Amino acid sequence: MQKYFLGFVGFLFGIVTYAQTQTIDQKVDSLLQKMTLEEKIGQLNQYTSDWHQTGPITINPNKQADIINGQIGSMLNVMGANYTRQYQELAMQSRLKIPLLFGLDVIHGYKTTFPIPLAEAASWDLPAIELSARVAATEAAASGIHWTFAPMVDIARDPRWGRVMEGAGEDTYLGSKIAYARVKGFQGDGLGNLNSVMACAKHFAAYGAAVGGRDYNSVDMSERMLLETYLPPFKAAVDAGAATFMNSFNDINGIPATGNAYIQRDILKGKWNFQGFVLSDWGSIGEMVTHGYAKDPKDAAYLAITAGSDVDMESNAYRYNLAQLVQENKISVTLIDDAVRRILRKKFELGLFEDPYRYADPTRQQEVLFNPEHAKIAREVAAKSVVLLKNEKQILPLSKDLKTIAFIGPMVKLKRANHGFWAIDLKEIDSSYIVSQWEGLQNKVGKNTKLLYAKGCDIESTDKSGFAQAIKVAKKADVVIVSIGERYNMSGEAKSRSNIGIPGVQEDLLKELKKTGKPVVVLINAGRPLVFNWTADNMSTIVYTWWLGSEAGNAIADVLYGDYNPSGKLPMTFPRDEGQIPIYYNHFNTGRPPKDEQDKINVSAYLDLPSSPKYHFGFGLSYTTFQYSDLKISQSQMQTDGSIDVEMKLTNTGEYAGAEVVQLYIKDIVGSVVRPILELKDFQKVNLAPGETQTLHFKIDKEKLSFFNQRLEWTTEPGAFELMIGASSADIRLRANFELTN
Ligand code: GLC
Repeated sequence: MQKYFLGFVGFLFGIVTYAQTQTIDQKVDSLLQKMTLEEKIGQLNQYTSDWHQTGPITINPNKQADIINGQIGSMLNVMGANYTRQYQELAMQSRLKIPLLFGLDVIHGYKTTFPIPLAEAASWDLPAIELSARVAATEAAASGIHWTFAPMVDIARDPRWGRVMEGAGEDTYLGSKIAYARVKGFQGDGLGNLNSVMACAKHFAAYGAAVGGRDYNSVDMSERMLLETYLPPFKAAVDAGAATFMNSFNDINGIPATGNAYIQRDILKGKWNFQGFVLSDWGSIGEMVTHGYAKDPKDAAYLAITAGSDVDMESNAYRYNLAQLVQENKISVTLIDDAVRRILRKKFELGLFEDPYRYADPTRQQEVLFNPEHAKIAREVAAKSVVLLKNEKQILPLSKDLKTIAFIGPMVKLKRANHGFWAIDLKEIDSSYIVSQWEGLQNKVGKNTKLLYAKGCDIESTDKSGFAQAIKVAKKADVVIVSIGERYNMSGEAKSRSNIGIPGVQEDLLKELKKTGKPVVVLINAGRPLVFNWTADNMSTIVYTWWLGSEAGNAIADVLYGDYNPSGKLPMTFPRDEGQIPIYYNHFNTGRPPKDEQDKINVSAYLDLPSSPKYHFGFGLSYTTFQYSDLKISQSQMQTDGSIDVEMKLTNTGEYAGAEVVQLYIKDIVGSVVRPILELKDFQKVNLAPGETQTLHFKIDKEKLSFFNQRLEWTTEPGAFELMIGASSADIRLRANFELTN
């Protein structure tokens, strides 16, 4: 009986949903019929505010008049309940009163900022990552924002590329899980909820594979690598219901993404049936002229609209050329109608036609943005993002009985830097709320502990005049903490570095402080993997603190004192030298792999470097230790449509409670195309008390064994596989073999 009742409820739900969807589609169509061609093209045009620019400045002097004339469909960099209301009031003066969309780069937080996305990825904590996006959306939506230009889901294997800070690192499986979590976090219970914003999966596609790690540079790769390595996080974003996509500046195998019908129409809107809309990146439509792919802006407009780019951010190519292309029968108005429909549908789903000002409530903005719960969440997510690289002498966690601590280095008292590159200088509210590393330690230490400070040096200069004072202060201390790294905006957009060392004389300062013989804890702040071999080889205690956001200081103090036991694992491989790049864990074996670090004869190795990276993908230490044991697999043979149940035990064998990221890798021993030496296919983050054991379960199914064969078919092949479970990609603790029989 119950199943009939549930069936009837489901049928009713379907009718209601269909009615609602049917209603929105009907509303879209009836509005479309009233629109002139000019008004339709206006919906495809996006300008930045006059208050804030995040790209090459373009001059559009009459934006207010343009809005009233229906020439602008959306704006970016307009934020704040009052500021967005001002612009929306202009849109309500237009003939058809079509509301504006307001988009903003809410990359890792709005007022309350979270760790940069690469740092968050190091937490491997999907619920925490989703919650972080949830809080960001809640604050942004309370500030008039309908749409965030996030998550950035570009796979990145080259740390010279400054935008690695913005994504989830080098791995497709981890990147796909995080993409899904971030979209779910931003969109929450669905568009139209006042604490949700539209997500925007970017940059479509393969932007992270820029040759030389140089931003905006060309991308050239096999179609199989594109499909198998770079596109899955975007598919995960579609599966999570991402409302929009943003394409990328780069050309892919000679075709700029903005004009690339294969990825935008065949794959995204075709095979994946994406119903949202695609936004160009800043000026990328017009830049197809610079690429040498379009003759002029009119040709660029033609190429972009036919390739499925729906909205033109800041290039004016659509505004000044689409009408003429229609009048000359170069394009059909149905192409424009499809783009307009996609945009209007989202405006209806957001409820903007019922109430254009529903996200612009100054009172609600004030309440939401100053919710203390948000800072608490930010502090927890930040602590989970910290990666402990070395703790050889167990200096950490620090004792609360320490009498004197010297906190030294150019990062110690910085405030804004902790936001990382993508922080929004907010209008209307004070966004200066950031806990510096110095303040965090002050908040933590008891009155019996004396804190001493010295800057020691700048981030980039060669001036060593501060060393003497730093050494003097260090000699008075029981423990020395040194906070060094790259400047916060040495990573981010257009921030590629050919040398990814720690700049200036910071490591020289470290050498001098080491000579004092004091116990030294090194904090490294960065938006990317850095090269710091001297520090890595000579210092006993190293913590990678990235840029951790508003609560950086408190989170770092929590980790240093063991109030949070570090659990982060590297989402990117750390090279020994730029000469190793690209270097990533899931590479092919080649016919001549080196047997070990010293093997240099007739093998794939550098004469002047060990073959391994400095730190491996998935690596990170804890204040406790974990034992992996009792691996059992349900059977050693599997049918394609079958599965294998995997079980193992994890025990906390140390004296601190802590979390471990148990990583499951798979190697396909032989394939019709060569297969990676191992690939991450699952993971679980587990919290254990000292002495506690938990049994973990995984499932191997055909999805985890599939790949694109030579004919680009997503398939499996019978044969032998190796299952590996470990604490990192290079620290495998348990192994088993199994066979796929058909
Ligand atoms: C920038 C970035 C993009 C951002 C956009 C708007 O150039 O590439 O990620 O969302 O412009 O600021």
